[in-house]
Amino acid sequence: MTDTAGAGALPVEGVPAARVLDEIRALRAADRPTHGGRLFAYVYDPGVAGLDELAQAAHAESAHVNGLDPTAFPSLLAMENALVGAAARLLGGGPGTAAPDVVGSVTGGGTESLILAVKAARDARPDLAEPRIVVPVSGHAAFAKAAHYLRVALDPVPVDPVTLRPAVADVAAAIRPETVLVVASAPSYAHGVVDPVAEIAAVAAEAGVRCHVDACFGGWTLPWLRRLGAPVPPFDFAVPGVTSISVDLHKYAYALKGVSVLLHRDPGLRAPQFFAYADWPGYTMVNPVIASTRSGGPIAAAYATLRHLGEDGYLRLAARTRDAVAGLADAVRAVDGLRLMAEPESTVVCFTADDPGLDLFLLVDELTARGWHTQPQLAYAGLPASVHLTVTAAVAPRVAEFGPALADAAAAARSAGPVVLPPELLALAGSLTPEALTPDLIAGLAAGLRLGTGPAPDRMAAVNTLLQAAPVRLRERLLVEFVGLLQRPAW
Ligand SMILES: Cc1ncc(COP(=O)(O)O)c(C=O)c1O
Repeated sequence: MTDTAGAGALPVEGVPAARVLDEIRALRAADRPTHGGRLFAYVYDPGVAGLDELAQAAHAESAHVNGLDPTAFPSLLAMENALVGAAARLLGGGPGTAAPDVVGSVTGGGTESLILAVKAARDARPDLAEPRIVVPVSGHAAFAKAAHYLRVALDPVPVDPVTLRPAVADVAAAIRPETVLVVASAPSYAHGVVDPVAEIAAVAAEAGVRCHVDACFGGWTLPWLRRLGAPVPPFDFAVPGVTSISVDLHKYAYALKGVSVLLHRDPGLRAPQFFAYADWPGYTMVNPVIASTRSGGPIAAAYATLRHLGEDGYLRLAARTRDAVAGLADAVRAVDGLRLMAEPESTVVCFTADDPGLDLFLLVDELTARGWHTQPQLAYAGLPASVHLTVTAAVAPRVAEFGPALADAAAAARSAGPVVLPPELLALAGSLTPEALTPDLIAGLAAGLRLGTGPAPDRMAAVNTLLQAAPVRLRERLLVEFVGLLQRPAW
C-alpha cells in the first residue's frame, strides 16, 4: 500500500483518521464477505440486526483493559467468571450437577484451549519422561500442534470410513502407561460427527487418564439442538470420566474473535494449566492462559453478546441453523454424483463426489465464482476429498438459492474437469521428499500455480490437486513454503 505521506504502515507524516479508515475499507473489499450467509467457514454470523454494533461498542469499552492482572481490572475478572459460569452450566456443570466444582479460564481461541488442556494433562504427570496423548485422526489439528509445542507424543487413532468415528476398542488399545490425555470431539470439525464420548471417557477413566472433549465447534450448539429435540448423545460433564471441555465463544456463541472457554471438572485438574514465575526482578507473574497481556475487548464483546441473545436467542438461532442444515443437505442429495459424508448431526454439511467426472476442487471454485464460499478438504487416510460447510444462522434465508447454485456449479465443474496437472508435476509431487525441496523448486512451483505474487488466485483447484497428490509431510512443507511467500514485509 502506498500513499503520498509515505508508504506502508508508518508514513513520515500521519494520515487523517477518515482516510485511514477509507484505506482499511478499500483493503477489506478484497476479503470474502463476512456477512450475508454465503460464507461457510471462518466466520460465524447469526444475522441478528444490531448485534455487531453492540459487540463493537462493548469491545471499545474494554479494549484498553489488560487481562494480565485481574486485581487491577476487576471488570474483566467479573466478565470472565460470568462467561465461564455460563459455559459450565450449558455443558453439564455447576451447582446441582454431576460436576459442581467445575472451573475454567477464558482463552484467546480453540487452539489455545486445546494446548492448555494438553499442558495441564502433561504437567500433572511430572513423573513421565515421555508423555503421550491419544487423539482420533478426526480430532482437530490443534492437538498435533499442542503435541509439537509441548513435546508430547501423539498417538493417532484411525476413524471408520463410514461412521467417521474412532472405534472405542482402538482408543483403548492406544492408551499406554505414558498416556496423559485421551481426546474426543463433539463434533469433529471436518465432518461434524460426535465421537462416542461416553465410551471413550469410560476407557480413559478405567486407565486413570484424563479425557478432554473438544467441543470448541459444537459446545454452543449441541445443547440447544438437544433442547429442540435432536438426538444428541451425551458429551458433556454429565458423562463420568470427562475431565475437561473446550468451547469457543467466537464460533457458535457468535462472539467477536478471540474468545474460547476451557473448563475442568475441578480446580485440582486445572492447577497445572497455570504458569507462575517469581524468580526475576519484575512483577510477580501468574498466567492462567498462554497470553500474558490480553485485551479486555473480546471478553467484553462476548459478555455483551451472551447477555443480549440469552438462552431464548440461542435457541432461536439453533432452530434456524438446524433448518438451514436440513435444506443444504437436501440440496446436496439432489445433485447426481454428490454424496453426504455423514447424515448431518450438528451444524456441518460435508459432501464428497462419487463420480470421477465431477472434480470437487473445481466445484468449489465454481461455487466461489457464484459467490458461495465453501471449504475443500483433501483426501486423507482412506477418506475421500470432501467439501465442508460450516452452517450458521445467517445462512437460513439463503438456503433456497443454494440448491440451484450447487447444481449449476456441479454442471460447470463436470463440463470443465477434472483438473489434469502435467504428469511430470504429479510424479514430482508423489515422489519428492520435503528435504529435497530447494528454493528454486519452490519458486518454480509457486510461479506455475500463480502463488505468492499478489492476492491468492480465484481458482485453487490446481493447487489443491497438487497438494492432494503429495504425501502428508510434503503437503505440510509446501503449505509452509507457500504461506512463507505471502508473509513478506510491505515496505
Ligand atoms: C473442533 C475444533 N477444535 C478446535 C478448533 C480450533 O479453534 P481456533 O481456530 O479458534 O483456534 C476448531 C476450529 O475450527 C475446531 O473446529
